[in-house]
Amino acid sequence: MMQSVVLARRPEGNPVEADFAIREHPIPKVVDGAFLTRNDFISLDAGFRNWMNEDSGDEILPAMSLHEPVMGLVLAEVIQSKHPDYAVGEKLMARFAWQTHTLSDGSEFIARLPDALEFDPSAYMGVLGDTGMSAYFGMRDIAKPTAQDCVLISGAGGAVGTIAGQIAKLEGARVVGIVGSQAKADWLCHSLGYDAAVLRRGDTPLPDAIQAACPDGIDVFFDNVGGQSLEAAITNMNHRGRLVLCGAISGYGVTPHGPGNLFEVVTKELSIEGFMTHFRHERYDEARDQLSNWLREGIIQSPEHRMVGIENVGKAFADLFAGENFGKTIVEL
Ligand SMILES: NC(=O)c1ccc[n+]([C@@H]2O[C@H](COP(=O)([O-])OP(=O)(O)OC[C@H]3O[C@@H](n4cnc5c(N)ncnc54)[C@H](OP(=O)(O)O)[C@@H]3O)[C@@H](O)[C@H]2O)c1
Repeated sequence: MMQSVVLARRPEGNPVEADFAIREHPIPKVVDGAFLTRNDFISLDAGFRNWMNEDSGDEILPAMSLHEPVMGLVLAEVIQSKHPDYAVGEKLMARFAWQTHTLSDGSEFIARLPDALEFDPSAYMGVLGDTGMSAYFGMRDIAKPTAQDCVLISGAGGAVGTIAGQIAKLEGARVVGIVGSQAKADWLCHSLGYDAAVLRRGDTPLPDAIQAACPDGIDVFFDNVGGQSLEAAITNMNHRGRLVLCGAISGYGVTPHGPGNLFEVVTKELSIEGFMTHFRHERYDEARDQLSNWLREGIIQSPEHRMVGIENVGKAFADLFAGENFGKTIVEL
C-alpha cells in the first residue's frame, strides 16, 4: 500500500494541520511509458499554498482538488521503470504530490540528481534544492551584494533566507534579517553570521526597527514575504537600491497587503526584479556545484526543521506559516 496526503478542506488564511488528511491506496501498476518512484523526502514549500484555493490555477499549476493528493516537491528514487528515459536507481527532485510513491510518465517538472549523493539526501531538497538555489540565483544574479552594501532579508530564518544571508556574508556585506521571534533573531546572529535581526511583530513598528538596525539605509532588500515587510523596506532603501523579489508568503491564500509607498521606487530610483528558480532549470548543475563547494568546505551551513513520517507533513506545512521553522522544512518518509 502507498500513502498520500490529501487536501481535506481548503485552508482559510494560514493553513493548519486539519486541512490535510492521510489516504491509503494500492501502489499502481507500472505501465509502458511510466515509472514508479519511492519518495524519501517531502520538501515543504510555502508557495504551494497559492494553489489550494478554488479557481487558483495558473500557467504553473492547476488549482488543487479537494480530497486529492497535495502537490509539492519530493526527493524520489525510481524503483520500477517501463520508461525509456528513467532507469531504476535514478534519484530525482520532482514536482510530485505529497505521497510515499509516485507513478509518473515523466511529464512533471523533474530535475535529475547525481547517482551517488555526496551529502545527506535531505540537503538536495534544501540548500542544494529549490530553496538553496533560489538564494543562489537571487543573490548572485540579481542582488550582487558587495562589501559596501547593507543587505536586508525578510523570512530570514527560513529555507531561502538562511542561505541567502550566508551568501551575502560571503560577499562581505552587512546582513540584517527580519524574523518573527527573538529566539530566531538570536539564532541568526549567533549561529549563522547575521549582523543583526529585527522582529516583524515586535513592540517597535517595523519601519522604525529596520531603521535602527540599518542606520545607513538598505542597499539590497531580498524579499521572501511581501506586504508590510516590503513596504517597510522601501521606506528604508538607499538611492538606487535593489529590491530582489523571491516570494510573498504574507499574501499566499489571503488578500495581499500591497506596499502603499511605490512612489518611493521612483524618487529613490530603485530597481525591482522578481525571479522564479524553475525558469533557470538549465543552470541547476552550476548552482548545485557552487553550493556543494561551500557546503563541503564548511563555508555555509544548511539548517533544517526536520520531521519524520508522512502523518507529519500537514503539520510541517502549517509550521512554515506559523514561523515555527528554523531553516528548511522537510519531512523524511
Ligand atoms: N522565486 C522562487 O523561485 C522561489 C523558490 C522557493 C521559494 N520561494 C519563496 O521564498 C519564500 C521563502 O520560502 P521558504 O521555503 O524559504 O519558506 P521559509 O522561509 O522556510 O518559511 C517561511 C517563513 O516566513 C515567515 N512568515 C510566515 N508567514 C508570514 C507572514 N504572514 N508574514 C511575514 N512572514 C511570514 C516565517 O518566519 P518568521 O516567523 O521568522 O518571520 C516562516 O518561517 C516564500 O515566499 C516562497 O514562496 C520562491
